[in-house]
Amino acid sequence: MAATAAQRRADELGANCRYVVAELPGAPLRDGCADLVYTGKGALIWMPDLDAWAADVARLARPGGHLFVHEAHPMVPLWTWDEDEPRIRPDRGYFERSHVNDTFPANGAVEWQTTLAGIITAVLGAGLELRHVAEHPEPFWRWGDLDAAAWRGQLPNTFTLLARKPSWGTGPTGPVPWCRAGRSGRWGTSAA
Ligand SMILES: C[S@@+](CC[C@H](N)C(=O)[O-])C[C@H]1O[C@@H](n2cnc3c(N)ncnc32)[C@H](O)[C@@H]1O
Repeated sequence: MAATAAQRRADELGANCRYVVAELPGAPLRDGCADLVYTGKGALIWMPDLDAWAADVARLARPGGHLFVHEAHPMVPLWTWDEDEPRIRPDRGYFERSHVNDTFPANGAVEWQTTLAGIITAVLGAGLELRHVAEHPEPFWRWGDLDAAAWRGQLPNTFTLLARKPSWGTGPTGPVPWCRAGRSGRWGTSAA
């Protein structure tokens, strides 16, 4: 959905930009093909190995290219949906590996958990440079007319992260000039 909207906007603006939706890790795309890799709005919870995800992001991004993440804050599984005041669910833990999502629309799906530090460490571990991390009170998703107290500004519900692949590439081999060779047009890759 996000990639479709981004492509429509790019087309409206006449930008030479092509968005590709791909599953990470293991996206069948060539190394260094993307100016931007976006992951967001409920994709990270399906990835058991964020080191593998980050490594594939680093592989896909061209030198100087970016990763942008807009995701649910890792604290979100702990918030109740009580309308009178925010509460912490006693059956969940911030440092747990996973939890069963018993609310709509996931109803029973097992979702992976990674702390904010774990997400940042995965990005840095892939050799990307961190440019921005911010925590936001606004959720990106609400259920019907529900107005949970946890969504009213007191608690983090989303975060954004921007990272950049160094212009000399990543990894122990140093510069990777082949990443630039043969690049045609501007590509964005969306993991979601
Ligand atoms: C709640 S939807 C979010 C849709 C979209 N990201 C958006 O912003 O509109 C969750 C998405 O995560 C995607 N997803 C799950 N596992 C993924 C993976 N390993 N790589 C990329 N996307 C994945 C699913 O395809 C699904 O579209």
